[in-house]
Amino acid sequence: PRKVILDVDTGSDDAVAIILSLLSPEFEVLGLCSVNGNREVKLTTDNTLRVKQLMKSDVPVYKGCEYPMVATLTPGRKPNIPWREGKMTGVTSLIHGDHLPFPETSLKEEPVGAVPWLIDTLVHTQEKITLIPVGPLTNIAMAIRSDPRVVQGIEEIMIMGGGYLVNNTTPMAEYNVWVDPEALEIVLTAGCKVTLVPLDATHETYLNLEDVAELRSYQNTAATAVADLVEQRIKGYANDADMKAFGGAPIHDALAVCALLDPSVLTEVVHVNCHVDISGGYADGQTCLDMRQKIDKDAPNCYFALHADREKFRTMVKAILKTCPF
Ligand code: BDR
Ligand code: CA
Repeated sequence: PRKVILDVDTGSDDAVAIILSLLSPEFEVLGLCSVNGNREVKLTTDNTLRVKQLMKSDVPVYKGCEYPMVATLTPGRKPNIPWREGKMTGVTSLIHGDHLPFPETSLKEEPVGAVPWLIDTLVHTQEKITLIPVGPLTNIAMAIRSDPRVVQGIEEIMIMGGGYLVNNTTPMAEYNVWVDPEALEIVLTAGCKVTLVPLDATHETYLNLEDVAELRSYQNTAATAVADLVEQRIKGYANDADMKAFGGAPIHDALAVCALLDPSVLTEVVHVNCHVDISGGYADGQTCLDMRQKIDKDAPNCYFALHADREKFRTMVKAILKTCPF
């Protein structure tokens, strides 16, 4: 199996991504790193531990960074830690409250933090490891900055983040990138194979109430949990004009996991030059693509998915969840 590390700001779509990864025999999940994002890291860690407990998993959980790298220091930047302001505009990953609707847990994170663990693991690994960051990129960028040798231990990085024509937090920015724009810029320029699964792709692969009903019919823990989360997300997205038209909700982070299991779930993947706007201005946190047709355009540094295959995604998610043995 492929060795993977998930970096999560759990979050209901993060929870689905974790559940799918833990159920996939193609993956050996080495660890789950939590990060500030949907909520403060204390809560995203607790939510991650709740998912671990629900899945009867012994995967270690490492608590990561509490703040973005430098984002809060940039003059002119709007406050980008919305949970501190009590505002969660545009972020529907935890529809109500701070906790996932799963039983409380007394499970604890490991004594070592996510960043030192990532550095140690990636520097010393024999076999290269795939990273799946589905929250702000703070932990990964901190690890790369602290010890650039981590890059040699990385097979590839499959990120949920960014947007080309679709954005959610500001007119120009997607949430994970907007929270820590410098972090993604560091990851994009580190020399790793990077794929971005942006909102353009995740909004096309929404799940609806039909999917929820089918998941419920499997009557196992994972499928029921995901059915609950998806149903909650559909309610949360009901005020969003695009999603109302579809009658569904995107499960952003789950698409990044599926893209590693079957890359053909992403369609129209461009190999392109991408940089993050870190100006603190109107486009702060934008993933800017060089889509010019010129031969001397800027050299590609990532793969960026412009579209995704909804039928393939729904089929994959259901097939994986059906396998839960309890
Ligand atoms: C991303 O932001 C978070 O709210 C979600 O968990 C997802 O990773 C979508 O913009
Ligand atoms: Ca997330």
